[in-house]
Amino acid sequence: MQKAKVFMTRAYHPEATARLKEYFDVELWPENSTPPKSIREQKVAECDAIFTESYDAFDAEILQSARTIKIISNRAVGTDNLAISEATRRGILIGNTPGVLQDSCADFTFALLLDVARRVSYSERVVREGRWTRLEQTPYLGTDVHGQTLGIVGLGGIGTRVARRARGFDMKIIYFSRTRKPDIEEELGVKWVPDLESVLREADFVSLHMPLTRETERLIGRNQLRQMKPEAFLINTTRGRTVDQKALYEALSVGTIAGAGLDVADPEPVPGTEPLCALPNVVITPHIASGSSATFKKMGMMAAENIIGALMGQVMPSCLNPEALENRTENA
Ligand code: DGY
Repeated sequence: MQKAKVFMTRAYHPEATARLKEYFDVELWPENSTPPKSIREQKVAECDAIFTESYDAFDAEILQSARTIKIISNRAVGTDNLAISEATRRGILIGNTPGVLQDSCADFTFALLLDVARRVSYSERVVREGRWTRLEQTPYLGTDVHGQTLGIVGLGGIGTRVARRARGFDMKIIYFSRTRKPDIEEELGVKWVPDLESVLREADFVSLHMPLTRETERLIGRNQLRQMKPEAFLINTTRGRTVDQKALYEALSVGTIAGAGLDVADPEPVPGTEPLCALPNVVITPHIASGSSATFKKMGMMAAENIIGALMGQVMPSCLNPEALENRTENA
């Protein structure tokens, strides 16, 4: 019997590739970048499964070419690169990787928060560039993290773990989330506030953890930044498009807020000419919050298991649209 065909948009998951090869005919995109649109269109027309990354769009337009494809498996928890309703309509299952990356993302959120507050990267650059010429602390004075108020927007898996870490820093924690979480409020002593505005007004550190959706796109714009305290920091490890980047640049340049720690940007990669990169009160990293070696591997393996589950008629570790199966046609 002919083996099912799997197309992987990146070649950097050896263990996941080996696992998929146990069952399927696996093709790797040889370049370290998103396959062009024409290739993505071709692959949804001739393969049974796609193993992809959050950087690679399989939008409604690309899915117009879908013929044989049965599952698209994202090595990510976020799925804003995928047209889920169109996939469902076409009988295509969507897999993602929740549950294995929250702690790594929460660690990294704290790394950014501490870095920008205590000016770690800024002062480290001074030393490396040979500009540390006098023994004095005054050029590097930062903001204390302990005892401050952390405002979490989106208390899901990652937001909850950020709250857990914040307790170790004796922070007061407030949150705003679509759904109130009384059990977490009780367990971690976090306080719910009724709207985003309350988080923005009260917090010394605002950390974004909601997914990118139509409702959260550019959720943080000029008006929201104006509601923050001038000594407050914005931390974004979710998606760049949740923030109006131009408004953020203005706010950081004129002191509307004190600083920002950003693991995500719009677009990604940001060009080196992006104005935010020139600001001393910004720490910016290349979308690596989940990127510890262990978590990278776990996410790869889970994305592989999602494909195995879908193509072998077994349970997928994480399927976002099981109802898609009802829309399957003969040739899909
Ligand atoms: C995710 O899992 O969504 C991370 O942002 C990696 O893309």
